[in-house]
Amino acid sequence: MKRIAIYPGSFDPITNGHLDILKRASKAFDEIIVLIADNSNKHCRFSVNERLEMIKGAVKKMDNVKVDSTKGLTVKYAKEHGAKFLIRGLRAVSDFEYEFTLNAANEYIDHDIDTVYFMSTTGHNFISSSYIDSLYSSGVDISSLVPESVVKMYKEKK
Ligand code: COA
Repeated sequence: MKRIAIYPGSFDPITNGHLDILKRASKAFDEIIVLIADNSNKHCRFSVNERLEMIKGAVKKMDNVKVDSTKGLTVKYAKEHGAKFLIRGLRAVSDFEYEFTLNAANEYIDHDIDTVYFMSTTGHNFISSSYIDSLYSSGVDISSLVPESVVKMYKEKK
């Protein structure tokens, strides 16, 4: 049976930190679906279509990675797509508390779906999407922190 995992998030935008998690997780599963959650209360800088385009550009060489979006619950999407695992990254202790609560909520909805956590590698644990945005807005070069497709999208949006 195919081992499918879902990597959910806002990805606004996707960063090399997310890709670091994804690359390592892709070795552990037969297929990973990067899932843009289109229902968060967050005010997003990029539309879902823009985020889909950026992520597709970033994962085009990763054969077992697909990209999708949902307006619904992550675990519901996982069940519908035959996935028994979610992937999440941990950058620092501060992420743990948030992940603890998120996991409890997901477990309440469907206790058959487990979350697997990958620890960020050194050099990637300070990156966040809003940090990237602040750097770009301040004129700092972000090209070593995000995939090329993200730099391109920022330039197009200007
Ligand atoms: N590298 C870089 N950044 C990282 C990161 C990593 N490895 N891990 C986390 N981050 C950052 C993100 O960039 C983001 O930064 P920002 O706040 O500056 O934009 C922040 O951490 C949180 O992002 P993310 O991991 O995408 O979490 P989220 O809160 O945006 O997403 C969902 C959480 C989408 C997975 C969750 O809310 C969800 O599943 N929603 C769907 C609805 C649902 O099923 N809810 C169930 C619970 S009620």
